[in-house]
Amino acid sequence: MEVFVLPTAQQVALRAARVVVDGVRETLASGRSEPVIGLATGSSPLGLYAVLSGAVSAGEVSFERARGFALDEYVGLPAGHAESYRQVLLREVCGPLGLPADRLHVPDGSLSSEEALAAGAADYERRIAEAGGVDVQILGIGANGHLGFNEPGSALTSRTRVKRLSERTRADNARFFDSRDAVPTHCVTQGLGTVLDARRLVLVASGPGKAAAVAAAVEGPLSASCPASVLQWHADAVVVLDEAAGTGLANRDYYDASAAGL
Ligand code: GLP
Repeated sequence: MEVFVLPTAQQVALRAARVVVDGVRETLASGRSEPVIGLATGSSPLGLYAVLSGAVSAGEVSFERARGFALDEYVGLPAGHAESYRQVLLREVCGPLGLPADRLHVPDGSLSSEEALAAGAADYERRIAEAGGVDVQILGIGANGHLGFNEPGSALTSRTRVKRLSERTRADNARFFDSRDAVPTHCVTQGLGTVLDARRLVLVASGPGKAAAVAAAVEGPLSASCPASVLQWHADAVVVLDEAAGTGLANRDYYDASAAGL
């Protein structure tokens, strides 16, 4: 795992964006003409998306032939709801990055029975596999250590499925809704095993509210109690933090020395 702790939000965004752009270029160089990007929602990756949008405008990278796969989706929001992750990603990623809307894949949370949701989740796994797997997966982290919507206790080998949201997560996400009660109680999320299948992971976190979760993910035991700790199991994971999110790290000196290079 590579860990970068950087002083400004812009440096965090630039460093994380570099991982994505390098991933796209390496995918193209390997002969795969349709790079697959795993997309996270939430506030954390917004700076990264803004940098990518600038790189697209500058002609440095293109997402026209890419495919995007969302990490997760709420269950039960009406089609077209502004806070459904499909709408969020259309707004915040497809438009700014020039990723065609018909190349965006999002788990279907609108299905009404448990059986249909489970079948939809299995179909989502199939679609990722058919696309050749995820080349670069963008990640945020919940204040409770969740990854995607894999809440504490999620199996480290889990696949895409329906999960209940923790009350902590519903409270954290209430800012996007009219009230806490309006936040859905369930979601469909890629599993931790699904995330681990991506060729490269880049996790972005900022602010003091993420410090404890980041420390547990990066330096704590590999444990379902902190789902983001699965990054320790991945051979190519990059963690990009601002100073506040990095305050709980015991090995900060080592990360800074490693980031300085040979
Ligand atoms: C959300 C998403 C996650 C995201 C996390 C952190 O609910 N499902 O994918 O990483 O919670 O969100 P934020 O970046 O807004 O703090």
